Amino acid sequence: MSVVVLGSVNHDVVCEVERLPGPGETILAAATRTNLGGKGSNQAVAAAKAGASVEFVARIGEDPDPALRKSLCEYSVGLEAVVEVPGTRTGTAYITVAAGENQIVVDPGANFRWESDAELDRSVAAEQIAAAEVVVAQLEVPIRVVRWAARHARRFILNAAPATDLPADLLRRCDPLIVNESELAAVTGHPITTPQEACVQARNLCLNGVPAVVATLGAAGAVWARRDGSAAVAAGYQPAPRIDSADSTGAGDAFVGALATVLADGADLPSGVAFATAAAALAVQSPGTHAAYPSRDQIIATLPAVPPARDPH
Ligand code: RIB
Repeated sequence: MSVVVLGSVNHDVVCEVERLPGPGETILAAATRTNLGGKGSNQAVAAAKAGASVEFVARIGEDPDPALRKSLCEYSVGLEAVVEVPGTRTGTAYITVAAGENQIVVDPGANFRWESDAELDRSVAAEQIAAAEVVVAQLEVPIRVVRWAARHARRFILNAAPATDLPADLLRRCDPLIVNESELAAVTGHPITTPQEACVQARNLCLNGVPAVVATLGAAGAVWARRDGSAAVAAGYQPAPRIDSADSTGAGDAFVGALATVLADGADLPSGVAFATAAAALAVQSPGTHAAYPSRDQIIATLPAVPPARDPH
C-alpha cells in the first residue's frame, strides 16, 4: 500500500470556545493549545496509521523546527521530499473549536512556495509519485503543483479543500474527488442539505467526466458515485455510526488518509468509504489531529458499528 501525500503542513493554534463567534464579535477562549496540522500532514499521518507506506511531499519554512520532523517520523511518514524553503516560515492555521464544530483560517507561508514544473520533474518527489499506487493532494498548496502531481500519478485522489475553481483537466483525473457539503456546493453551484441532494450532485459530476466522487456529510455519513462503464454511474449512501464528537478538526483528513490507504490496497470504493467512515468516527472522539487518528486495528474493530450502506434514494 504505497501512498504519496502532496500537501500542506501547518502549526495549528487552537482556541476552544463555548460557541463560535459571529462577525465583529469578541469572545474569550476556555483554553488554547498548539499541535502540528495542515491537511497534507494530517492525511499523511492518517494514512500511515491506517497501514500505508507513506511519502510526504511538502514545503516548510527555514525556521528550525526539529519537533515537526520528529513528530512525522514517529508515525513512519517518509520525509525525503519535505523541503525547507529559504526566507519563509512554515504555515500557520488559526482554529476555533466549539461543541464539535470548527472555523479555520490558514496563513499558508511555505506551503505556497514551490519550484517550477520543470524543476519538480527532476525532484525526488517526481520519482515517488510515479512509483506510488495512490497519490493524494489537497488545495492548501498551489493548484499548479496539484495539477503537476495529478499528471504523473497512476491513481490520483483530490481532496478539494479549501474549495476553489477546479479546471476540467484536473477533475478528469480525480479517482475519487473528495469534498464535504460546502465544497460540493462550491464545485457544483448547488446547495446541499441532504444525502439525496449530495448524491444527485456527485452523480452529475461523474456524468460530466469525473471518474469518481465521495462527499463527506459529517454526522450524516458520506455518499459516493462512480462511473461504471462508459455511460452509467453507480452510487451509494454510507451512514455514519452515532457518536459524541469532541473535536471535528481534521476528521475529513482522517477519512481521506484511510480511504487512500485501502484504495491503494485494492479495495473497491464502497468498502473503502465504509473503512474511512469508521476512521473519521474514531478521529472525532479525541481532540487534535495526528494523535486523534486511529490505527488500522482500531478502524477494523470499529467497522461492525458502521451501519450498512443504503441506496441513496
Ligand atoms: O483539516 C484540518 C486542517 O486544516 C488543520 O490541521 C489546519 O492546519 C488546516 O489546514
